[in-house]
Amino acid sequence: MSDLIFSDSFINGEFYKTDTRFSVDDPATEKSIIEVSDIDQTGVQQAINAAHGAFIKLKATNATTRSNVLMRWFELVIQHKQTLAELMTKEQGKPLKEALGEVEYGAGFIKWYAEQAKRSYGDVIPATDDNHRLTSFKQPIGVVAGITPWNFPIAMVTRKVAPAYAAGCSFVLKPSEHTPLCALALAYLADQAGFEQGTFNVLVSENAKMVGELLTESGAVRKFTFTGSTGVGKQLLAQCASTIKRTSMELGGNAPFIIFDNADLDEAVTGLMGAKFRNGGQTCVAANRIFVQRSVLDQVVDKLAKTVTALKVGNGLDDATDIGPLIYPEAKQKVQELVTDAKAKGAVQIGDNVELGGNYQAPVILTDVTPEMDIYHQEVFGPVVSIIAFDEEAEVLALANNVPYGLAAYFYSQDIKQIYRISEALEFGMVGINEGLISNPVAPFGGVKQSGLGREGGHQGLDEYLEEKYVCMKI
Ligand code: SIN
Repeated sequence: MSDLIFSDSFINGEFYKTDTRFSVDDPATEKSIIEVSDIDQTGVQQAINAAHGAFIKLKATNATTRSNVLMRWFELVIQHKQTLAELMTKEQGKPLKEALGEVEYGAGFIKWYAEQAKRSYGDVIPATDDNHRLTSFKQPIGVVAGITPWNFPIAMVTRKVAPAYAAGCSFVLKPSEHTPLCALALAYLADQAGFEQGTFNVLVSENAKMVGELLTESGAVRKFTFTGSTGVGKQLLAQCASTIKRTSMELGGNAPFIIFDNADLDEAVTGLMGAKFRNGGQTCVAANRIFVQRSVLDQVVDKLAKTVTALKVGNGLDDATDIGPLIYPEAKQKVQELVTDAKAKGAVQIGDNVELGGNYQAPVILTDVTPEMDIYHQEVFGPVVSIIAFDEEAEVLALANNVPYGLAAYFYSQDIKQIYRISEALEFGMVGINEGLISNPVAPFGGVKQSGLGREGGHQGLDEYLEEKYVCMKI
């Protein structure tokens, strides 16, 4: 692992050391993995300047060149898959098998945008008179700044940096202070792959406020992209207003997972396990409110209880582990507070309450969850299954949609007419039908309502980094 572990910010192709250091901890052991240096204001400014200088050169490169560099980056990430996955498990906690899956998922964005780099087509617009020719074409926006979360330390980085580079934009990234090591390893590999100096800068810092303000308020940064909570997203959006930046926001969700009585219940439970327990429930697309039609409620709860009991909670480096630790103590405390509040208001826990110590949280199944409980309205971000019984289709649709969020939704049904009705009526940016795992580099990921703005992945993800220029020529 040691050959890909770095402790300083990466600016203009070099590591940038400061005297202020902080510890990156392993959530499994709560021990320090390494001390990293905390960027200062000078470093942030240097990164913006470096990205600006790099953009001038990068925008003049052709798409095939950028595509080839991205393809080399993809190959290097795959070549170092095991090392990156181990690094991820150490700093983030997810089981190694999931970390390996995330490296492939993250690399998938690089490969996809290596291909898409060559497809940023413009338009020839039919002329409206004999004397003019009208066209439009796409150009890179400019310097991009981004802030990424700790739950997917590789995929959330590549999902932003690869399309930006494909478009011809340089990047200043601030990864979560909890998981900077994967981002630094990615930047190092990008550099080895041929990213020109200054095209991909990584700022390591515990001071998200200072870095966020400098990045959002800089006139040189033309686009800002964020993945994280809706609350922080709102603040960053407001900060971006002063310089009218383009923004992409992948924010919070509160995903409904609906099981209709005509569903294949075994498949529904399998799908729910994926949608709920991936990364221990720490995903924005995690199933948060599980609606089960009353006539099949007991069957679903029985099947689920049997499957959940078999899950092994432990250190992600242990082969047997299905659920790793939560990211830090406050995350576990929040999960436990939500469970306590729900139980105080009438929710029933299936099975015993097990305290595992450290950041480990045993899975919890709650039935009789109601909208009066905090757990109904907040992303639980942990391994808790909250079950709500319903009777009618119209009732469950109203309940599912009655939240300010609209990221992912899931439902299980074998009635084709119902499948069309529900997928059209759900007010969410992504819908899984008889499927609990929907994320895919080739498809547009994103939400509606307070879950965000813009799309990542798919051909849509490239447009987020391109401006359209209309050209009117008199002949
Ligand atoms: C997220 O939780 O923010 C992203 C999850 C995914 O890409 O599947």
